[in-house]
Amino acid sequence: MNRPHIPVLCDFVTELLTPETQSLIIDGTFGFGGHYSQLISKMPADSTYVGIDRDSAAIDFGTAHYGQESRLRLVHNTYENMTQICTELNLPLATGILLDLGISSFQLDASGKGFRFQGENEPLDMRMGEGCSFTAADIVNTWDKSAILDVLERYGDIRNGAKFVDIVCETRFKSPYLNTADLIHSIKKGFYFANSRRRYVQTCQTVFQALRIAVNDELGQLERFLEQSKSLLAVQGRLAIITFHSVEDKMVKRFTRENKDWITPINKKVIQLNYHEAKKNTRARSAKLRVLVREH
Ligand SMILES: C[S@@+](CC[C@H](N)C(=O)[O-])C[C@H]1O[C@@H](n2cnc3c(N)ncnc32)[C@H](O)[C@@H]1O
Repeated sequence: MNRPHIPVLCDFVTELLTPETQSLIIDGTFGFGGHYSQLISKMPADSTYVGIDRDSAAIDFGTAHYGQESRLRLVHNTYENMTQICTELNLPLATGILLDLGISSFQLDASGKGFRFQGENEPLDMRMGEGCSFTAADIVNTWDKSAILDVLERYGDIRNGAKFVDIVCETRFKSPYLNTADLIHSIKKGFYFANSRRRYVQTCQTVFQALRIAVNDELGQLERFLEQSKSLLAVQGRLAIITFHSVEDKMVKRFTRENKDWITPINKKVIQLNYHEAKKNTRARSAKLRVLVREH
């Protein structure tokens, strides 16, 4: 299989993370190695690149395509366990850490796990892999009304979901939600689109996104990683985080503010896609890159 994901803001990440001397880069969201391929080509011979991913498909792809590279170590795990991974691999402090959050195009298009609302009808699963204890179907079939509303509001900024959640709670009694088509059916009944295709697409996208974030505990993963980041980074080491959701970006901003005694942002302004990259990689349009340096 060709690389099924276009890496985002790759030139910025490479420029800002590539060190001149021996280095250790830890990529907490290895995916299909888009950032890895560019970074490794610039890294000195005695360097190490650790690629972590919770999805076994990403690790299998990496092993098949980049397994010959002696500087690469692939780990099937979640990045929230980075401290434990570094201890087990006996690694020094990192010169660079990269998180490219969210989902890969492969997961969206070809994993068959129900991440997308367009295309084939798929099981309502949405688990990216390691560290997930419930599926999207479990949420809609078993969580109470207020908990589902909370997921929609917190992770999708959906404030008019009450009718949809009532419909979900009535429907699941008669027949549980099994696949994406079941969910889409209830979205169509539970929201008002005023005949606007754009509003319909946006609503489906945000409902699916909210469930995915909850299933994969994406904000919890980031929070727990940030708490340990100081003890993972070398002095002058850099932490690059690409977010796709305003809540994640706010978390990174807050973290920077609250830790300004040891960490400084390299760029005052967040880095975003330019017109040309946004045109080529429309899915990544909302990407925001922040790079922080450990000062002491
Ligand atoms: C946007 S893709 C990364 C793409 C990669 N940078 C590339 O260029 O190919 C996000 C990847 O992170 C993985 N991922 C998401 N959350 C994770 C977590 N908490 N721990 C480890 N991997 C995670 C996903 O499985 C997915 O493969």
